[in-house]
Amino acid sequence: MTTTITISGAGGQIGYALLFRIAAGDLLGPDERVRLRLLEIPQGIGAAEGAALELQDGAFGLLEHVEVTDDAAVGFDGCDLALLVGARPRGPGMERGDLLAANAGIFGPQGAAIAAHASSDVRVTVVGNPANTNALIASASADGVPAERFTALTRLDENRARAQLAQTLAAPVDTIRRVPIWGNHSATQFPDVSHATVAGRPVTEALEAIVGDVPAWLADTYIPRVAKRGAEIIQVRGSSSVASAANAALDHVRDWVHGTEDWTSAGVVSHGEYGVPAGLISSFPVRAVDGEWQIVDGLEVSEWAQARIDASVAELIEERDAVRALGLL
Ligand SMILES: NC(=O)c1ccc[n+]([C@@H]2O[C@H](COP(=O)([O-])OP(=O)(O)OC[C@H]3O[C@@H](n4cnc5c(N)ncnc54)[C@H](O)[C@@H]3O)[C@@H](O)[C@H]2O)c1
Repeated sequence: MTTTITISGAGGQIGYALLFRIAAGDLLGPDERVRLRLLEIPQGIGAAEGAALELQDGAFGLLEHVEVTDDAAVGFDGCDLALLVGARPRGPGMERGDLLAANAGIFGPQGAAIAAHASSDVRVTVVGNPANTNALIASASADGVPAERFTALTRLDENRARAQLAQTLAAPVDTIRRVPIWGNHSATQFPDVSHATVAGRPVTEALEAIVGDVPAWLADTYIPRVAKRGAEIIQVRGSSSVASAANAALDHVRDWVHGTEDWTSAGVVSHGEYGVPAGLISSFPVRAVDGEWQIVDGLEVSEWAQARIDASVAELIEERDAVRALGLL
């Protein structure tokens, strides 16, 4: 079997971190051959072509073909998995409305091209920010493609949330489970530890011995640390998260295709779960079963947690309404 994978913004930093890991089998495993389509804008074509030359020099046995293009019709032709990474960053003095409009100009046509050219069971993961609303725009423009096929990446936030707990509890990160992210991939996101476990024991119980006042630590230390981790990386490293973002994108797509053992987090279309208006693409606790994301239902959500979810969802509603007001949705 060969899977066709399209990466938009393939000439950028995250693209460069993604391509070689996909070619090495880190996404689909050691038996699945891949065909890569590197979609760029004309200014990024040189970087993507350079990456394609290096992919060739990697002599990856699983890599069947690489195509570099600035034409979305070619880029999404036969695409099974799309990673939409290329986006318009916020420039100096740029208003939020301008940012949303610029990205609608990218993700609308890409959604339409996916509907026209991708394979019938295409799965789309939006990485480029504002990821949730970009995914919504792409989905709205993709006539005939179920909304469930469009997702936004919030796995990096979850990985950060688990890693921060691991560090605080001095526990291996893979013993920490069920730390969903709710809402928007932004500073309003809500990393929720209320159902989390460490080696099977409730995280809140384990935290008490270490941090004392758990609710205060969550509100004042943990949640801001996770939500502002992207800004911390920019400050320390001098540029935004790249390898960790690529790693999370691979985690997300791998789980979507191969299934999950436990919950994880993804920005998926709401059908009204947990008070999130239907149609919005919000992060939820999810499982992947038979190639489909399922929102974990029936969770007990405290008033405090629901208020956090609602605040992040209010931001998603604002973003959606701003795009609608511009006539772009
Ligand atoms: N969801 C997440 O967790 C997460 C984490 C980190 C970064 N991001 C976002 O990922 C995006 C990419 O980050 P990066 O560091 O790779 O940026 P980058 O600037 O290095 O690369 C972006 C690339 O996209 C290309 N591009 C722009 N418009 C395009 C279009 N219409 N079609 C195809 N390609 C296009 C650019 O030419 C550039 O090569 C940013 O929006 C960033 O905010 C998201």
